[in-house]
Amino acid sequence: MAAKSGLKRGEKILFGISGVFVLVALVGYVGLEGYRLTTKKQIFSNLTSFDLSVEGNAGHRIFKGNRCSSCHRAFLSGTSMGGQTTLDGIGSRRSQDWIRRFLSDPEPVYKATYRAATLDHGRGKEAGYVAELTERDHSLMATFLSELRSKQGASTAYLPPEGRSPFIESMLSIWAPESWKDKYEDVRTKDFTQDVTSPTSQSGAEQ
Ligand code: HEC
Repeated sequence: MAAKSGLKRGEKILFGISGVFVLVALVGYVGLEGYRLTTKKQIFSNLTSFDLSVEGNAGHRIFKGNRCSSCHRAFLSGTSMGGQTTLDGIGSRRSQDWIRRFLSDPEPVYKATYRAATLDHGRGKEAGYVAELTERDHSLMATFLSELRSKQGASTAYLPPEGRSPFIESMLSIWAPESWKDKYEDVRTKDFTQDVTSPTSQSGAEQ
């Protein structure tokens, strides 16, 4: 058989379609990057802030010196090993006092808030040493952590962006069964300004 190099018709169509996808992606990327680099408008709003006071800075040093970053992400560094261990934005979810009390006596504070035992912070557990640090260390670290703020809608915030979002509405109508309306509260209608604990904390829980 002659080794004619030509592609089969199906192959041509397949490569053609793939080529169009690559081209569209490339043009889109170049266009967006070009716009991003030249525009004076802010494309993404910054919803997370890290304004540290003098005490907050001292707390950050203590935080860094005590292996917290081996499990937690905070101040844009560290790891996010396991569940809810990102501490960025915690200042908008918890009061400074809650954080200080959690650090010095984790088990009861955690139980009152989440109705669950700690995984790591409780006595004798892997992060049990945290409770043994000095009162001053707890207090300064609580100040540091309470200064890690995030606005509603940030990836580290409990609440989705303010106002009605057509995207969220459509997702809800597709995925959320009717029965959830009675079972769960819509966090978007709840006022958290008086209460910096998370939506998972129940009323009646110790503050
Ligand atoms: C061995 C891993 C580990 C280490 C080390 C660790 N943590 Fe944690 N931390 C966790 C886990 C897991 C949780 C969730 C509660 C639990 O299960 O103990 C948590 C929860 C917290 C919370 C509460 C978050 C919330 O909103 O519920 C704070 C605050 C906190 N840690 C601060 C610290 C600080 C400060 C240090 C260092 C002095 C530290 N942690 C070291 C694993 C760790």
